[in-house]
Amino acid sequence: EMVEKQGYTHYMLKEIYEQPRAVAAAIEPHVNPEFFSVALKNIGFGQSVQKLEELDSKADWEKTKEVLKNIDRVFIIACGTSNYAGMVGKYLIEQLAKVPVEVDIASEFRYRNPVIPPKSLVMTISQSGETADTLAAIRMAKEMGATTLSICNVRNSTIDREADGHLYMNSGPEIGVASTKAFTSTMAVLNCFAIGFARLRGTMDEATEKELVKSLLAVPSQMEGVLAYDKYFEEAASKLKLFRGFLYMGRGSSFPIAMEGALKLKELAYMHAEGYAAGEMKHGPLALIDERMAIVMVAPTDHLYEKTISNLEEARARGGKVISIGTGDNEKLRAISEHYLAIPKAHWTTNSILTVIPLQLMSYHLACNLGYDVDQPRNLAKSVTVE
Ligand code: G6P
Repeated sequence: EMVEKQGYTHYMLKEIYEQPRAVAAAIEPHVNPEFFSVALKNIGFGQSVQKLEELDSKADWEKTKEVLKNIDRVFIIACGTSNYAGMVGKYLIEQLAKVPVEVDIASEFRYRNPVIPPKSLVMTISQSGETADTLAAIRMAKEMGATTLSICNVRNSTIDREADGHLYMNSGPEIGVASTKAFTSTMAVLNCFAIGFARLRGTMDEATEKELVKSLLAVPSQMEGVLAYDKYFEEAASKLKLFRGFLYMGRGSSFPIAMEGALKLKELAYMHAEGYAAGEMKHGPLALIDERMAIVMVAPTDHLYEKTISNLEEARARGGKVISIGTGDNEKLRAISEHYLAIPKAHWTTNSILTVIPLQLMSYHLACNLGYDVDQPRNLAKSVTVE
C-alpha cells in the first residue's frame, strides 16, 4: 500500500480529514490571494497534457478566454458523486455566468443522441479519469464537434488525455471507494471556473469577484471546524442506525448535497436513503414519513432558507425525526431537530463544500458502527472501467 493510512482507522476517514488541504490545493493555481481575482491556470486548450506545465500561464489564460467567449451552453457529464458535483456546478455557472447548463449522467448522455449545439462546452468530471461511460461521453462530444474540458484528479488519465482543456482536483490519491475529498475539491474548482467564466462574459463585477474569492479562500479553515462532527457522529451512530430510512432534502445547491448525502449512506451503511429536492416532498416522499424515518435537511442560510424551513415543518408534522444542517447558532433549527449540525457562515457559492462534511461523517460512523468495510463497500468499485 503506497499511500498509508497515517494513523487513521480507514482511508476514508483520512481523506475526509484531508479535505481542507485538498480544497486549498484545488483553488491555489487559479486565485490570486493578493487581488482576490481568478485567472484559470494552464487549462491548455488544444495542448497535450504533457505540455501543460510548460505553458506560459498568461498566454494560456488569454487562449482560454478566447475559447470560452465563444461558448453559450455548457453540458456537465459525470457518474456517481462526480455527477452531484456537476449539479452544484450548474447552480454556480448559471447564476454567476448566466449560461445555460445541462447536467447529465454519462450512461444516459451517451445513449440518448443528445443535441449538442455549436458553441457548446462539454465538461466531464471524473476523479479517476477512467470511468467507461464518462470516457465514451467525452469521445462522442468531441466527434460531434463540441469543445471539451475535463476535471480530473488523476493527471494523464484517459479522460484527461482525450479532453481539449484540463482542470484538476489536486486532491492527491483517493483510495476509499466512496469519494470524499475529490467531491469537495471539484466544487472548489467549479467555483473558480464559474467566477472566471462570469468575469469574462461580463456578468460579474470586480467587487463581486473579490467577495466570492474571499469566501472561497476562507473555506479550508472553515472546514477544519466542521470536522469536529467526527466525534459527534461516533456517539450518535448507535442511535441513528435504528431508523428505518433516511430522506435527505435540500433546495438549490443544497439539493445535490442531499443527493450526495443519501448516496454516501447507501454506499457505506447499506441503508435505504433518498435524496430529494425539498420542494418535491409533497409529490410523494411525504407519504413515507413516520417516526421511524429520519429527515436530513440541508438548510444553510441562503435565499431559499425560509422555503426549506417550511418544508421541514411539514415533514416534522408527519412525525419525521429531524437531522438538520444550518448556518451558525440557528436556534430555530436547533429547537425542531433531534440533531442540529452547524456550519460557519459562508456565501451560498461555498455552502455546499461545508454542508457535505457532516453527511460524510454521519455515513462513515453509521457504517463503522454496523461493522461494514467502509473503504471497500460490498459490490462497489473505486472506478467503473467497464460498462
Ligand atoms: C464509482 C465510485 C464513486 C465515484 C464514481 C465516479 O461509483 O465508487 O465514488 O463517484 O465511480 O467515478 P469517477 O472516477 O469518474 O469520478
